[in-house]
Amino acid sequence: MAKSVNWGILGCGKIAHKFAQDLMKVPDTQLVAVASRSKEKAKDFGRQYGVSNCYGSYEALVNDPTVNACYIATVHPFHKEITMLCLNHRKAVLCEKPMGMDQEEVKAMIQRAKEKDVFLMEGIWTRFIPAVGKMLGLIQSETLGDVRSVHADFGFLGDQDRSNRLFNKSLGGGALLDIGIYPLYLSLLVLGYPEDVEAAAQMTETGVDESCGMILRHRNGAVSSLHCTFMTDTQIEGWIHGSKGSIKLHSRFHHPNKVSIYRGGEIEQTYNIPYIGNGYYHEILHVNECIRLGLKESPKVMLNDSLNLVKMLDEVREKIGLVYE
Ligand SMILES: NC(=O)c1ccc[n+]([C@@H]2O[C@H](COP(=O)([O-])OP(=O)(O)OC[C@H]3O[C@@H](n4cnc5c(N)ncnc54)[C@H](OP(=O)(O)O)[C@@H]3O)[C@@H](O)[C@H]2O)c1
Repeated sequence: MAKSVNWGILGCGKIAHKFAQDLMKVPDTQLVAVASRSKEKAKDFGRQYGVSNCYGSYEALVNDPTVNACYIATVHPFHKEITMLCLNHRKAVLCEKPMGMDQEEVKAMIQRAKEKDVFLMEGIWTRFIPAVGKMLGLIQSETLGDVRSVHADFGFLGDQDRSNRLFNKSLGGGALLDIGIYPLYLSLLVLGYPEDVEAAAQMTETGVDESCGMILRHRNGAVSSLHCTFMTDTQIEGWIHGSKGSIKLHSRFHHPNKVSIYRGGEIEQTYNIPYIGNGYYHEILHVNECIRLGLKESPKVMLNDSLNLVKMLDEVREKIGLVYE
């Protein structure tokens, strides 16, 4: 039996529940503590997952000696501050995406992790989804020839209530940071950091983007065309087109269960590769392994990947005039 990794969750919102459900399935792993700004909320969350240490502040959790890994599940403007708190207490950190609001925040977080010699990773769970691993294997084996383009969209017609956090600027609202990060990550994963970024967006009266189109040009001449929106339901597919064929990441492309190869526009083969639980299972397994090996950085979602990703977000934001205070 491997040594147990003891997790604490900070922020008891929507994603924290999905993560906790998967954490229950991972072997040699325990959810030992949860923290919320409200003690009642923490207790209610804790009751659902059999957690005994339920705290009414994030500070209380980082002082719990039984916790060795922290999952930051708050809304994005608080990721930096809470990550710093955990790192200062020498807790390994898995921080939800986007890791910070801009590259200055992410740089500071990385620097602190290095100073404290503590593990830090952004919660880009896509990278650990088995079907995404299959896609990478197919690209490496030259199934597609030279990759010429990446196309990905992520859109849903959600609740249009402007008081929702998705439209609230002070809570980091907007489609780009919430869902646009996934098409951008797919492009980064497959084609690397772009040479040029173009973008256009439709902004809300609350000052955030409700729809954003992005075109990226890469060093080898490849192009990415990416889209995110809260204004309509889209296919949520990822396509990688090469000189010899294409790969489709089936919907939802950021956690697909299926990958297909196309030649000449016709489907050649489909691989069914289901993920476990809600999909976070694989990410948790990976972080546990890193912690057990004493790594300070994941070899799969490296700190430099997070820096590149936030730089891409910053470039898009500059083009569309999206400014957070
Ligand atoms: N990986 C994924 O698939 C995925 C999916 C959805 C979201 N996310 C990311 O996960 C994070 C949380 O998303 P969510 O959908 O779970 O959000 P949410 O339910 O709206 O909020 C998450 C938590 O943020 C905390 N929070 C701290 N300070 C806050 C403040 N001043 N106002 C409001 N909330 C505050 C609250 O925790 P307490 O009240 O308990 O303290 C709240 O429960 C976001 O950064 C998002 O980008 C990731």
